[in-house]
Amino acid sequence: METKVVFLDEHDMDEASLMECGKVIREGGLVAFPTETVYGLGANALDGNAVKKIFIAKGRPQDNPLIVHVADIESIKPLVKKIPKVAEKLMESFWPGPLTIILEKTDLIPKETSAGLNSVGIRMPSNEIARKLIKIAEVPIAAPSANISGRPSPTDIERCIEDLFGKIEYIIGGEKCNVGVESTVVDCTEYPPCVLRPGGVTLEMLQEIDKNIYIDPAILNKIEGDFKPKAPGMKYRHYAPKAPLIIVQGDIDKVVDKINEIGEEYRRKGQKVGIIATEETKSLYKSISVVSLGSRLDMDAIAQNLFETLRVFDDEKVDVIFSESFEEKGIGIAVMNRLKKSSGYNIIDV
Ligand code: TXA
Ligand code: MG
Repeated sequence: METKVVFLDEHDMDEASLMECGKVIREGGLVAFPTETVYGLGANALDGNAVKKIFIAKGRPQDNPLIVHVADIESIKPLVKKIPKVAEKLMESFWPGPLTIILEKTDLIPKETSAGLNSVGIRMPSNEIARKLIKIAEVPIAAPSANISGRPSPTDIERCIEDLFGKIEYIIGGEKCNVGVESTVVDCTEYPPCVLRPGGVTLEMLQEIDKNIYIDPAILNKIEGDFKPKAPGMKYRHYAPKAPLIIVQGDIDKVVDKINEIGEEYRRKGQKVGIIATEETKSLYKSISVVSLGSRLDMDAIAQNLFETLRVFDDEKVDVIFSESFEEKGIGIAVMNRLKKSSGYNIIDV
């Protein structure tokens, strides 16, 4: 398939190409577009056949539901049975922005979009290109992250092109995504609401709205036996670079020593070692392939750079990656969740 690529300035948009993209969506095609979290791969959320194409383009497991993106609160009403008070408060506080709210769906949402569940995740992105596209398309847009299933989500247009060029009708480029990890998913079909996926809106921020909101325990720990996360997507190995990733956790001085020590063993065996470091530690490593996520004092930057860094190690064709770990609070919960999943929970404690 021929894929058209267009770059748009979020603050000065070329309406003509957005009109064309809106038409592609309305007519059942696929358009990748930027959001503040990661790039999304969009289709008409109300058209089961269009949504099926997303699963094919990504190679996504059929049982993983999609998030429906809207441009305004009004357009949610036909999609859901009811909006509980707490969900209303969350929308007022965090929309537009990186928060997905799960509600009971109506029959307007086809089974392809909800993967057979009777609920649907809805989010209003803050990225202007995304919202304008939804408005122009005149339909809600179902959009998972715009990567081949299992790979790290794309946070810039080059990575989106890398995964989807030739497979979809259109790719819209904007600025690099500023949150860098996917939206927080909170299930409001039951009270108290439960965080199914940590993201840009932190648990602490949600608890300021309602202190009873809690996080699915399966998010913080390795999933064992029947202890399954409630968001179907969280059970898959995800966000994975090509090389195995090992997290080293503990006091930072010991972490650096341990990574140098094991890294040396791998190098002696002729393997190329990649290291995910921070500004504070990057000069302490002996490997040539060291990438800093940013300063430990700026966890937002660390989240923003995480997926791109995992992809850099794919480009450099390293054989193994070691990563430092981060405190699980604020957006650090989302960062550690993605890191743990990309490592397949391969963690060394020091
Ligand atoms: O930031 C984001 O949310 C991005 C951008 C493009 O908006 N989208 C995204 O979509 O991350 P995706 O498909 O990669 O992740 C959706 C997650 C999955 O873990 C899925 O299982 C969960 O949300 N999810 C969606 N609908 C759900 C539902 N009805 N019940 C439980 N989990 C749901
Ligand atoms: Mg995804």
